Amino acid sequence: MHFIISPGGSLKGELRAASDKSISHRAVLLASLADGVSEISNLLQGEDVRATIAAVRACGVEVREDRGRMTVVGGGLHSVEEINCGNSGTLMRLFSGVAAGWRIKTRLVGDESLMKRPMQRVSNPLSEMGADISVAEGGIPPVVIGDSGRLCGMTHTLPIASAQVKSALLLAGLRAEGETTVIESLATRDHTERMLEVFGANVRREELKATVVGGTALSPARFGIPADISSAAFLMVGAAMSEGSEILLKETGINPTRIGIIELLRRMGAQIEVLNLREMGAEPVADIHVIGGELRAINMKASDVPAAIDEFPALFIAAAAATGETTLSGAAELRHKESDRIQAMATGLKKLGVSCEQSDDGIVIEGRGEKSAVFSAGEVDSQGDHRIAMAFAMAALRAKGEITIRHCDNVATSYPGFVKQATAAGLRIAAERD
Ligand code: S3P
Repeated sequence: MHFIISPGGSLKGELRAASDKSISHRAVLLASLADGVSEISNLLQGEDVRATIAAVRACGVEVREDRGRMTVVGGGLHSVEEINCGNSGTLMRLFSGVAAGWRIKTRLVGDESLMKRPMQRVSNPLSEMGADISVAEGGIPPVVIGDSGRLCGMTHTLPIASAQVKSALLLAGLRAEGETTVIESLATRDHTERMLEVFGANVRREELKATVVGGTALSPARFGIPADISSAAFLMVGAAMSEGSEILLKETGINPTRIGIIELLRRMGAQIEVLNLREMGAEPVADIHVIGGELRAINMKASDVPAAIDEFPALFIAAAAATGETTLSGAAELRHKESDRIQAMATGLKKLGVSCEQSDDGIVIEGRGEKSAVFSAGEVDSQGDHRIAMAFAMAALRAKGEITIRHCDNVATSYPGFVKQATAAGLRIAAERD
């Protein structure tokens, strides 16, 4: 599938973006591990979460679905020969921890993109806990998990900021002997820690340190999932950079470990208000109000990265539409996402007439904000990465002519309603089969 977007327009109205992908994965997994029946509402219907549902079903868990409400009868997971994680790094890494802890023998595989992504970051520390786990040469999938016996809790300091690695270890730690502690140097998303408390796990937290005590059974839970700030981010950027826009993004998760996009856009001069703050499950949510205007360049460094880790494709589009030179450093992790996001964005930006220069761990982007049409007409390749596709779709709001984006099928992994909602808000986008 490809997107064709006509230039110009603005974003207006109210919408609730797709439900949170990270929280949905965790809800399915933890409900599957709990003893009893859990009920989750507003589960994301994206392909990544569908892969997680298929994974737990393959292990014998009963999952019933009724219009976004999911009932999970947890407990009793068994081994299965192979699990296909599709495009989802979160599923592959978190399930590695679950399988190691719950003695589920399996082989984890995925699509072309996932089969190239680094997995030693989880297999190495899980091996240290005593897991029988291996990856292919080069540290990539398949991840093969054998019967390890009981794991030993340990203290692990994360060498790279990764919520997926932290979560894999905490999930394995639920069944390990003693305590499992993960220490980070920069705070990454803490949905696992928050949700573990909801499911009754014995978990302790101090600033950059999370500990689970092994051996406590999880109890079932009932809660709803907020809209995903990482999906809302595209519309936030689109609205912030286009004159005449005014949008309200309802019931959006504003977990402090995820709000980098709001802070960075505000630093660029965007007009963003966070309204109607409340709680949903263990997560804070709010309605986010964005008014279009002018943006200015900023400098972003390593400490800005974890809270906006998935939002850089969108932020690079905002940077191109800002006045001045935006710089990013300390973001080498972006090269290990669904695509090499520094390379994919730099290639696409250049195709649309924006000057930029990559470095190993970042990029410099020459903003063209003084011009009303920042981007030239042209064709870009999302490289099969959902977030690259949605970021470039927003560029059309400030383009001179039509923008075509190739390989957009994977938008359905995180934001299945993207085209419909973006169209309703005013983006002149059409999705066409190749
Ligand atoms: C995620 C963590 C982040 C993020 C990914 C989802 C999660 O990955 O990029 O989209 O749900 O834990 P890393 O932990 O690899 O940084």
